[in-house]
Amino acid sequence: MQLRVVADQPWDVAADVLAVPFVGDPRFEAGLGEIDRRSGGELHALADFGELKAERYAAVIVAPGQLRAGRLMAIGAGPADELTRQVVVRIASTVERRLGGRRVKSLAIWLGDLADRVEGGAEAVAELLARGVVEGGFEPAGIYRDDVKSAPPALDELILVAPGASPAALTRAAERGVVMGEGANLARGLANRSANDVSPEVLAGEARAIAERHGLSIDVLGPEKAAELGMGMFLAVGRGSDNPPRMIVLRSGDAAAKDSAGRHLAIVGKGVCFDSGGISIKPADRMEEMKMDKTGACTVIAAIATVARLAPGTPLLAVAPAVENMPGPHSTRPGDIVKAMNGKTVDIINTDAEGRLILGDAMCYAEKLGATHIVDVATLTGAVARALGDQMTGAFGTPQAWYDQVAAAGDRAAERYWQLPFIEEYRADLDSWYADLTNTGSVEGGATKSALFLREFVTVPWAHLDIAGTAYFRKKTPYAPAGATGVSHATLVELALAGAKKA
Ligand code: BES
Ligand code: MN
Ligand code: ZN
Repeated sequence: MQLRVVADQPWDVAADVLAVPFVGDPRFEAGLGEIDRRSGGELHALADFGELKAERYAAVIVAPGQLRAGRLMAIGAGPADELTRQVVVRIASTVERRLGGRRVKSLAIWLGDLADRVEGGAEAVAELLARGVVEGGFEPAGIYRDDVKSAPPALDELILVAPGASPAALTRAAERGVVMGEGANLARGLANRSANDVSPEVLAGEARAIAERHGLSIDVLGPEKAAELGMGMFLAVGRGSDNPPRMIVLRSGDAAAKDSAGRHLAIVGKGVCFDSGGISIKPADRMEEMKMDKTGACTVIAAIATVARLAPGTPLLAVAPAVENMPGPHSTRPGDIVKAMNGKTVDIINTDAEGRLILGDAMCYAEKLGATHIVDVATLTGAVARALGDQMTGAFGTPQAWYDQVAAAGDRAAERYWQLPFIEEYRADLDSWYADLTNTGSVEGGATKSALFLREFVTVPWAHLDIAGTAYFRKKTPYAPAGATGVSHATLVELALAGAKKA
C-alpha cells in the first residue's frame, strides 16, 4: 500500500472513497459544510432523515456530487470529550472494514478537526489513522480459505488529507503507523491459528523466519537444554503433549547491551499453543478458544520485529516459552512437586494454572541473559477477564516508577490498562505443605494471586499485563473482527522505543 499525504482540500482529492470523520453531532459548517454543499447536500439530508447521527463508528456512504472522489463516507467519532487516541485508531479501522466486499483501491481520509482535538496534533492523528486502516484490513476469515467475499479491500493507496499541513512530517508519522499496524496484524495472524497448525515447534519456525527477515538473532531451546538449565516448571507443563516444548529467544542489538534509557529490556510472552487444562482438564464450553492461549508469545515475537523495523539495533530481548498443555500418561499430576530455574520448589495443585509456571522460568532465564527490566504479557486468568472484560487489560507492576513507565507507553500506544494491586496478605494462600509455594490458591482474587506467584521469579523491575480478557474478541465490532485483537503489541513497541538511539 502506497501512502500519500496531501495538503489539498478534501473536495479536490481524487480517490475511490473519501472518508470524513466528524466529532459529536454532524454540524455542517467549515470543512464539513463545504463537503456537504459540494456533495449536493447529501449528508445534510441524511442527518435530517436520522440516518447520519452522532453515534460512534456509525458510517454512511453516499454519492459524491461535485466532489472528485468516487464515494463519500461520513463516520461518527462520538462525543468530543471521549475522543481518545484509541478512538482515532478505531475510526480508521471502521472505515476500512465498512468497505468490506467493495472494490476500492484508493482510500482518502480527511483529518478534519481530529487534529485539533488530539494531543500531538496532525502528526499523531496521521500515525493513528494509518495504523487503524492497516489494522482494519486484517481478516482472519482468510487464514484457512481463499477468496473471502466480505474481506476489507486490499488498498493500493491510502491518502491522508491534511489541508495546510507539512506533508513530509505527516508522511513519516503515517509510515510509523503502518509499521505499527502491520506488527499488530502479524501477532493477530499467528494468534488466531489453530493448535493442529501451530505447535510449539511451528511457532519457533515462524519466529525463525521473522528473525531472518528483520536481522534478529534467535535461539530455540528444546527440552534437553531446558533440563540442563533447570527449567522444571516449564518442562512440567510441556510433558503431557507429543509436541515438545520450545523456549524461543529473540534478540535485537548486542547481548546484555543497555539501551539509551540504560535498560536491557526483556518482553516475555505466554505461548501455550493449546490449553486443555492438562489433568485438571477444562470444561468443554469454549475450550476451543484456548488455541489463543499463545497470544502473549505471538505479541512479543511481533513486537521485537516491529522494533527492529522502526529502530534497528535497539537492545531488546523477547522470550516466548511455547508449550502445549495436554492430559496424557506423561502429564504432570496435581500434587507433583517441581524445581524452578531459580531453585524454588513448586507444588502444582492445579495443572490448569500453567501460564505462571512457564513464565516464571522464562523470566528467570531473561534475567540470566542480562535483562534489567521485564514486562510479561499473558492470557493468564479468567479472573481478569471477568473483572474488566475485553476492553481493558489488567496490569501489575513493581516498583511503581516502572509500572508508570509501562503505563505511559500504553498511553502513547493508544491502549487501555487498569492497574491492579499486589495484596500481600494473599501470598499466604500460596503456601504449600511440601514446597516453597503452590501454583494456585483459592479462586477469590485470582488475578492478584497469579501476579504474586510470578513475582517470586523476578528480581528486577517488572510489569505483568494480563490480556486474558482483551487478547481476542468473541464478537465482531465495527472496528475489528472476532478473534485476536493485537492488544499490547503497540505498548511493548513504544516501551522499547523509549530506549532507541535518538536520531
Ligand atoms: N489460559 C487460561 C486463562 C484464560 C481463561 C485465558 C479464559 C483466556 C480466557 C489459564 O491458563 C487458566 O486456565 N487459568 C485458570 C487459573 C486457575 C486454575 C487458578 C483460570 O483462570 O481459571
Ligand atoms: Mn490454564
Ligand atoms: Zn492458559
